[in-house]
Amino acid sequence: MFSAYGKYRRMLAGRLWRQLDRCTKYAWQQRFVRITISAAGDTLILMKIFVTGTEGYIGAVLAPRLLAEGYELIGFDSGYYRAGLLLTNPHYIERQPELIMGDIRKITPDMLEGVDAVVHLAELSNDPLGESNPDVTYDINHKGSVILAQAAKKAGVKRFVYTSSCSVYGVADEDIVDERSAVNPQTAYADCKVKVERDVAELGDESFTVVFLRNATAYGISPRMRFDIVLNNLCGLAWTTGKIAMTSDGSPWRPIVHIEDICNAISACLAAPAEAIDRKVFNVGASDENYRIREIAEIVKDVFPECEVTFGPSGGDNRSYRVSFDRIHSELPGFRCDWTARQGAQQLRQLFERIQMTADDFNAPAYTRLKCLRYLIETGQIDEDYYWAA
Ligand SMILES: NC(=O)c1ccc[n+]([C@@H]2O[C@H](COP(=O)([O-])OP(=O)(O)OC[C@H]3O[C@@H](n4cnc5c(N)ncnc54)[C@H](O)[C@@H]3O)[C@@H](O)[C@H]2O)c1
Repeated sequence: MFSAYGKYRRMLAGRLWRQLDRCTKYAWQQRFVRITISAAGDTLILMKIFVTGTEGYIGAVLAPRLLAEGYELIGFDSGYYRAGLLLTNPHYIERQPELIMGDIRKITPDMLEGVDAVVHLAELSNDPLGESNPDVTYDINHKGSVILAQAAKKAGVKRFVYTSSCSVYGVADEDIVDERSAVNPQTAYADCKVKVERDVAELGDESFTVVFLRNATAYGISPRMRFDIVLNNLCGLAWTTGKIAMTSDGSPWRPIVHIEDICNAISACLAAPAEAIDRKVFNVGASDENYRIREIAEIVKDVFPECEVTFGPSGGDNRSYRVSFDRIHSELPGFRCDWTARQGAQQLRQLFERIQMTADDFNAPAYTRLKCLRYLIETGQIDEDYYWAA
């Protein structure tokens, strides 16, 4: 016979189960997440996640998304681009996690006590930025990331999700590269990604699941917008100047992926059973979303028909890679890609119209990482090692 309390608990459990999506049910069956129901009847997933880079382009979209999925979140960021907030939409702004300001190079295990998983986004994030100061890039992106992973393992964190990049393929010899292809990094930024994957993979074991997401170049709307990535940049130029003057012939291949689809991949990695992801590398994107840069410019021209596009001679940036995304679609449970470049350009156009974006917004340092860090150095706010001045 069940007591009245037992019956009540079974009723709650039934209600709870019906509220969960497929991924969460799976994660619970694997005993990776703990789930309960609040007094108000809401589902609570009792998994504490430490997300670095929550004040960044991807982090500012990922954090509200994970909070909405029911995770408990701690955000961590050095605040380099804090001044840049293009959107004040309450959907993003009011749903940000508790934030710890700090530098990943100084992380210690005690800061990660009680954390179930780390999602690591905080780095100097793109090739030109990395080239502007390779020493600091290695210090933050390579050493800092390894320090963070070591601290996480020591603190008993169970899962470490690392956001790597398809730029590790650099100049690809093969027609289409996949996760088994040789890497060929061309920049300090890409080389750091290769080194972090190598060193963090060595830390992985049955109690510390590590996974590497090699994201294509991102695009799409974030409250902490970036205009130094190809689709966002071309759309911003089309809107504010009516002209895209490419300095090259636009022949290199570049896969691109919407920021929401990157968040899909991260979310899927948090919910997946360990054996589906352990020490695996996944290219994040869709195989149909490989474009030559000139094709991206042509899509932008379709969406901003009043814009004029011209191309230059061949040469310049020699990075070119066409990437297969078959593995993530077949092996990462729950992952899907919802966006195409054309939809992304349309979404950006709608945003620019809605906020009546000006050239000053588009050119503001906080939306172009290299400009922003140069400004912080020139004004003495950060030192030459990119630590905040006392
Ligand atoms: N955006 C893309 O196109 C793209 C593509 C592939 C991979 N990635 C990777 O995804 C991650 C996030 O990218 P993003 O576009 O959001 O970058 P971002 O530059 O917009 O954000 C990174 C955040 O990390 C913080 N940060 C930098 N150094 C730090 C340090 N030493 N300590 C603490 N915080 C620090 C910055 O203040 C910033 O808020 C990065 O690792 C990046 O390499 C991004």
